[in-house]
Amino acid sequence: MHAREQWKSRTGFILAAAGSAVGLGNIWRFPYLAGEHGGGVFLALYLIFVFTIGISILLAELTIGRAAKRQPAGAFRALGGGRWVAAGYFGVAAAFFVLSFYSVVGGWTLAYVVKATTGALDGATAGSAGQVFNALIADPLKPVAYHGVFMALTTFIVLRGVAGGIEATSKLLMPALFILLLVLVGRAVTLPNAGAGLAFYLQLDFEKVTGGTVIAALSQAFFSLSVGLGAMITYGSYLDVRESLPKSAAWVAIIDSGVAFLAGLLIFSAVFAFGLDPAAGPGLTFVTLPAIFGQMPGGTIFAFAFFLLLAVAALTSAVSLLEVPVAYLMDEHGVSRRRAALLLGAIVFLLGIPSSLSLGVWSDFTLFGLGVMDFMDSATTKILMPFGSILLSLFAGWVVYPRLARELMQPAGDRIAIPLRVWGIVCKFLGPAAIIWIMAASLFS
Ligand code: PHE
Repeated sequence: MHAREQWKSRTGFILAAAGSAVGLGNIWRFPYLAGEHGGGVFLALYLIFVFTIGISILLAELTIGRAAKRQPAGAFRALGGGRWVAAGYFGVAAAFFVLSFYSVVGGWTLAYVVKATTGALDGATAGSAGQVFNALIADPLKPVAYHGVFMALTTFIVLRGVAGGIEATSKLLMPALFILLLVLVGRAVTLPNAGAGLAFYLQLDFEKVTGGTVIAALSQAFFSLSVGLGAMITYGSYLDVRESLPKSAAWVAIIDSGVAFLAGLLIFSAVFAFGLDPAAGPGLTFVTLPAIFGQMPGGTIFAFAFFLLLAVAALTSAVSLLEVPVAYLMDEHGVSRRRAALLLGAIVFLLGIPSSLSLGVWSDFTLFGLGVMDFMDSATTKILMPFGSILLSLFAGWVVYPRLARELMQPAGDRIAIPLRVWGIVCKFLGPAAIIWIMAASLFS
């Protein structure tokens, strides 16, 4: 057997894990959900969930991964015995389904890179940007083709392996995205009437909270941190014992929520400056940003750079999703990395086609009253991932706690940022109870 692949450096790992966490979830999904769910309260709930339950589960995943040196199915078996394997399969399957619709949106970002270069976004106004977006997603061919290109790129990076592909890409492009985001925020908050957007985004209006708000914020916290399906178990499995796990988890949570926070500042300043509807749904980012670029000197270049970096952020997340089932086939069935990546990449592509078509020609077809894309999104983020998180935290808190506590103390003398006890209590009681309560409340609301 080969030695297990490893990250090359500590920053490399943190950037790769942050690369998994930071993606469309932060820049596309977070702002539109916050817009639909009342702005400030959604932001507050999201941050609370990230820094309580979310970070605890993230830490549990990284620790389980490093202790077991395996992907979720193998990790649950190695640490908890055969009875727990199902929890791992669950994660492998969830990663698969999430990727199928994630890649469709990833394809849209590629389409926008092309639009920026061909001048299709030049001088865009909010109205014209809306038409461009609607025309793109309803087209029967183009978004499917871009989804194909996006999956091909994802597969290619996974093929190149952990350090060469995933780490190298993240290290270069994550910081660039962050800087560009700061520049754009600077532009957006100085637009006339941006203040109304800041008020919407930063003021707490508790009357807007419903069961739906709370489950949306919780599932967004999990989605955004990439927890609940074993992606972080898999990344942790490539981690060296010399690295501090709690510090890594803290960094990932800070970078991830920081990017989401900035994206919200950017989008809502602009939404109100241009008189758009904050509750416009999944098109929000794709309509708002071109409208800002349309008003900036050198807007075309900014548009190109931004969508390129967004596409890359999406890619580094997609890679972590594909890595879960790929590592599973490699570890458990002895399939080569190459074959596993090619096979699974192709299947995910096929699986994503109905999601893409559901926004156009197949819009009449529904599952439980939702279009295919909405159904995939809701089923994975509101059911599979929270459920996966419950299993994971019960497992960490009750079944393998002593083993994980030992792992967490490594490297020797590591000063643990969050006291171990608190973490144990969150995993044993608080996390599972809160998730079950929130899922139940959303069912009845
Ligand atoms: N966290 C990623 C994002 O915000 C999506 C993701 C979810 C990646 C789950 C891996 C696992 O875009």
